[in-house]
Amino acid sequence: MGKRYNSILETVGNTPVVRINKLAPSHVNLFVKVEAFNPLGSVKDRLALGVIEDAERTGKLKPGQTVIEATSGNTGIGLAMVCAQKGYPLVVTMAETFSVERRKLMRFLGAKVVLTPATGRGSGMVAKALELAETHGWFLTRQFENEANAVMHSRTSAKEILEDFKGERLDYWVTGFGTGGTLKGVARVLAKERPETKIVVCEPDEAAMLSSGIEQQRNPDGSAAASHPAWHPHPLQGWSPDFIAKLAADAVDVKVISQVLRIENADAMRWSKELARKEGIFVGITSGATFAAALRVSAEAPEESTILCMLPDTGERYLSTPLFGDISVDTTEEELEISRSTPSAWLQPA
Ligand SMILES: Cc1ncc(COP(=O)(O)O)c(C=O)c1O
Repeated sequence: MGKRYNSILETVGNTPVVRINKLAPSHVNLFVKVEAFNPLGSVKDRLALGVIEDAERTGKLKPGQTVIEATSGNTGIGLAMVCAQKGYPLVVTMAETFSVERRKLMRFLGAKVVLTPATGRGSGMVAKALELAETHGWFLTRQFENEANAVMHSRTSAKEILEDFKGERLDYWVTGFGTGGTLKGVARVLAKERPETKIVVCEPDEAAMLSSGIEQQRNPDGSAAASHPAWHPHPLQGWSPDFIAKLAADAVDVKVISQVLRIENADAMRWSKELARKEGIFVGITSGATFAAALRVSAEAPEESTILCMLPDTGERYLSTPLFGDISVDTTEEELEISRSTPSAWLQPA
């Protein structure tokens, strides 16, 4: 029977957990949680709804007040959906380096996008958002420090995982991190409710901030005071801005992480493509990266282990990026051959 929803916001979360049939080694049960099923295609829809509803409840956000956030894209797209539905104007600051489809999507949803120079990195766009919020009296959602982000993940993502694996084994949970909302919110629930589940975190090989062991310098409000020394530019959009977010650091501090894995760009791209071609699961670059980590965990896991891997967003967000670099717009030789194998409707290649 069909189900009716009172608004698009009720469709956030409850994403499916899907078995990997061909890409997993046969001695384990590997599952992925496909966050692309959220209404705007990413895990960040949860955060967006969580932080806005928390701000409404606590009175920090007034009716009709402008919302502002610094975001590499997915948070802005999720916020644009929530703000459109609830009637708040939205301004987003974003470094010019992030994919153009993200800018266009936010503008399509009615948001204003203010680009910041690539040289200022992630912290440049955060500083700009803060300045605009203070100057105009706008509500800054502070995705990197806002506890409501982690709370939403404890209330939804973690609860769904507990439900999906009730009475079943769950030996490993594998995730990356951007704000650390997913990591902090889910890890603390698993540590309490499923203490046997090992929490595995992955990060870009080129920006191995957690692996470095070097602490992040912070301002009194928890925001980053400077770029982290172990950070270098990397193409895994959505993971590891140039600082360790407060929420991610909180998750590290409670010592529930059993392993941190470094993932190379080429592996991220490779496994995003393989998931599409061998499993029909169409996801982005950080999903490929998290899946690469889950395969590493699988290879060393004991017989019959069950592993759950988070896949944060849809592959459609990457059409203009190197993920699609070798995907041809023009007819390929093989396609031409298929076309010529019957007499009608040949299209001569340009
Ligand atoms: C594509 C992508 N992957 C992973 C993440 C990480 O999620 P979180 O912010 O909950 O750490 C994000 C968001 O930062 C993202 O946009």
